[in-house]
This record gives sequence, structure tokens and C-alpha cells, in this order.
Amino acid sequence: MPTYPRLCVLAAGFGSALLLTACSSNSTTSQEAATTSAPADSAATGASASAMPTSASFGKTADGTEIQLFTLTNKNGLKASISTYGGTLTSLLVPDKAGKLSDVILGFDNVSGYLSPAFRKAGPYFGALIGRYGNRIGKGQFTIDGKTYHVGLNNNGNSLHGGTVGFDQKVWTAKPGTSADGETLTLTYLSKDGEEGYPGNLTVTVVYTLTADNALKIDYTATTDKATPVNLTNHAYFNLAQGQSKDVLAHMVTIPADRYTVVDANLIPTGELKPVKGTPFDFTTPHAIGERIAQVPGGYDHNWVLNQATGQHSAATVYEPTTGRTMEVTTDEPGVQFYTGNFLDGSLTGKNGVVYGKHAGFCLETQHFPDSPNQAKFPNTILKPGETYHTTTSYTFGVRKQ
Ligand code: GLA
Repeated sequence: MPTYPRLCVLAAGFGSALLLTACSSNSTTSQEAATTSAPADSAATGASASAMPTSASFGKTADGTEIQLFTLTNKNGLKASISTYGGTLTSLLVPDKAGKLSDVILGFDNVSGYLSPAFRKAGPYFGALIGRYGNRIGKGQFTIDGKTYHVGLNNNGNSLHGGTVGFDQKVWTAKPGTSADGETLTLTYLSKDGEEGYPGNLTVTVVYTLTADNALKIDYTATTDKATPVNLTNHAYFNLAQGQSKDVLAHMVTIPADRYTVVDANLIPTGELKPVKGTPFDFTTPHAIGERIAQVPGGYDHNWVLNQATGQHSAATVYEPTTGRTMEVTTDEPGVQFYTGNFLDGSLTGKNGVVYGKHAGFCLETQHFPDSPNQAKFPNTILKPGETYHTTTSYTFGVRKQ
């Protein structure tokens, strides 16, 4: 199979004008430096796209570190709240077909929800930024330039979502701002050489932007001083009928992917890319999540190989019939992990007292394929010194009236 250059430096090497354009336009995201947040009431009106994000306390971690919650608002009144703990998207208010704004994200009202023993035990990664390597690395082991590295094991002898203490549990430095697209929040984190066993000091910048056309855009950038695997994503759980339906089984999903990565019992890819045709994995036309889920042991928790792998392309389209809400996910990543909240078991109670049971939300984690460092035929995930990792994913919300 072809390799999919993701890094701008590599893309230039491939001489693709299209890719170069995508890289340069992606990297022009500008944030005006902001040292203070606007007063809460200026953004509460939602009237102006040029207002600054607001900030409020989100509580403290066990060691007393203050956690902030920033809220971005666009001219249509949509609101996205992001915590400095884990760079976590904690709520996202979007309209239904009657114009009513509701929160479509699973999560908690205070950082204590994300720190609780029950949350740590369940490990659902609600809304968090995921790194240094999103998804799994088999046996937590990989070899770069002849040297074998061992990273944190936290999932059946494998490494999941960065290891024991991933980026989801880090306190990020935040800077609110605005760009031509709307309000922004720039989060930065330095993952030191050796953290969780990964090589190299990795400097990570993530920019959330809430755009005037109702998209929550996430730009991820990273550089390193030693070759290292990198695969960054966000782990938001969506329920577009939150408050009206306790599960997401009626949501209609389309994924433009003719193949998916076959996995073993511990969800490590075997290397096979299997056609979805004639299987419950075929979402090339819209299907309700619940229609065929019983045929997939455990539920959906797989990586789809997107038909288009470079440039901005669709990763998935979702339609919720009761509320009319739609969500389009676009990305420049080659894959998407479609996960249907199979491990949620009612042990967590979130915002508004909602108990999160099985299939209470679904995730669309845009990504490079799981265990790529150990699969030579998968698109490259090794970032080298001098290169810049850059990837962009947008979640765009709309309504369908009938
Ligand atoms: C990813 C994984 C799942 C699960 C969730 C978090 O989606 O693929 O298996 O670990 O994260 O619960």
C-alpha cells in the first residue's frame, strides 16, 4: 500500500503542490497574544466572533494546581469549553433543528470528575487530548534506528493512549486569543525526553478554534529533538441527542472507508487491511450505529482506513434523527478510530446527573493507524528532529430539518 506523508517536511520531499498548499495553509493559524481573558459577560452574548474566550476556575488537582476552564463562543452562540487539565473538551453547546442549544459531549462540571478514582479506573479519556501516541502500541515496544524502546504498559500488556500517564493527565499551558476564523485557545505542553519511555523532548502545541461556520477545529503541531513516534488526537465522546437519549444507537453514521484494520483479541492490528463490503463495518452508506452492532463482539472499536489519506477530507458524517443535529468530521489523517463507548458501564455520572452506560457516546478519533511503529506497511508515525508534525481535524455542526 502507499505511504501517506503527513509531515510537511516529508510532503515537500514528495513534491506535491497540493500537499504543500495544505501544509502551508494549515500552519498559518494565527493567534493574537492574549494575556488576559475578557470579562465573562462579553462572550455570554455570543454576539461577536472577535471577542476573547472567557475563563473560570475548574477546581484544583490533588497537589493544589489551579485548573482553568476556557469557553470559546461563536456568533451563532455555540460554545466550547476546554480545561487546562488534559486539554480536555468538557462541553460543546450546538443547536438542534429548533435552534435549541444543548451540550453534545460527555464529561464533568469540575476537574474532580476527571481525577476521581472511578474515572481513573474506567479510563474512558472523556474529551482529552491524547498523546504522545494515540491508540495502541503492541507490547509497548518499538525500534528506531536499531534502538528498542519500552513505553508504559496500561492495556493488556500493550500501551494505550500514551501509557500510564498520558497527555490526558497533564496540565497544559493555555493562551486565549482570536484568529480570522474565531476565538482560539492555544495549549502547549513539553513532553520531556524519557517521559513514559518515549525518546526526545517533544514540544506540543494544540489550537482549538470555534469558527463562525460552526466548526470546532483542532490543530496539532509538534517538534522533537530525537526521533519518536507521534500520533495526537482528541477523545471526545458525542451524543447528539444528549438529554433525550441515553445511548447513541440511533445515530446514523457514514465513514468513507472501503477497508479497516483487522485486530487481534487485544485490539492490536494484524497488519491486514480488510474490505468492509458485506460486513457490519461497511459505513460507506449511512447506517444506524445500533443496526449491526450486535454482530461485532464488544461493539465498534476499530480503525477505518479512510479512502482519502491526505489533504482535508471527510472522516465521518453523523446524523441524529430526533434532534436533526449533524456532525461532519474532516481531517488530514489517514485513519479514524470509531469507538462506541463499549466499556462505559454506568459507573460514572456526569454533567446534569447523567449516568453513562454502555454506548452512551461515540468517539471518532482521527489518527494514524494503531501500532504503526511496528507495522512497516502502515503510514509513517516517526517524527524526526528538524521535521514538524502538523495535523488538523474539524468537527462541523449543522441540522437537517426532516
Ligand atoms: C480507545 C480505544 C478503546 C478504549 C477507549 C477508552 O477508543 O480504542 O479500546 O480504550 O479508547 O476507553
